[in-house]
Amino acid sequence: MSSAETPRVHELAGGVWQFVGAQRSAHSYLFKGRRRIALVDSGLPTTTAYLEACLATLGLAPRHVDLLVLTHEHIDHAGGAPFFAAQCLVAAHAQAANKLALADDFSLMTKAFAEAARPFQVDLCCAEGTAVELGGLTLEVVHTPGHCSGSVCLYVPQRRVLVAGDTIMAGGVVGGVLLSGNTSDYIGSLERLQRLRIDALLPGHGRVSQDAQADLEAGRARLAAMLEDSHTLFAALRETDRGFGEVMRSLRDLNQL
Ligand SMILES: [Fe+2]
Repeated sequence: MSSAETPRVHELAGGVWQFVGAQRSAHSYLFKGRRRIALVDSGLPTTTAYLEACLATLGLAPRHVDLLVLTHEHIDHAGGAPFFAAQCLVAAHAQAANKLALADDFSLMTKAFAEAARPFQVDLCCAEGTAVELGGLTLEVVHTPGHCSGSVCLYVPQRRVLVAGDTIMAGGVVGGVLLSGNTSDYIGSLERLQRLRIDALLPGHGRVSQDAQADLEAGRARLAAMLEDSHTLFAALRETDRGFGEVMRSLRDLNQL
């Protein structure tokens, strides 16, 4: 049980902390401005006690968090949100909010994590350009569809850090094109992120990276290769005249995740 896990809290910059994800949860990030406190991502439903313990190491309780921002709807990032929703406002992109309100098991990937999602209403729908002022720290929303349709990254210009969710991780690892995602949007999202000046990439999983530009370029190249693979696949299907049966079988397999 997560509550027994020792809190792993790292201060990354002034007013910025990482809560290392417990079990299979994504990492969460805490931003403490002069006036408001924001938490980004809430882990799995069963790890909220661990997040409480992380907050407690900073002398905080969930009621001190003003805003929870979700990078996307997958249950390892958003599963703890109903717990926080009782105590603070919750923000997500509209395309993630829809899926969370319906506890859409397929989109939330509940089977893959063997946890149940509770439906809940997001309070604030954020979009490209939404800025949340915390007092000396600003969370700027960058809509980055690709991993899934409602993915957002959060850029903090005062610290030049990017909370990337599953969009891009250290070493150029991409979170994969899952369910509501698609490769072309993903490539476009990474190209837009390449225009930001990023000193530290704060991913949903794995280590923090100080080399965001190289990570983004490596991720973009991986996705371009995936797109090329799909061109090859569709060309082969045309040549053999087998139609789309195999593609549809693959989609059904995905549905079993
Ligand atoms: Fe994800």
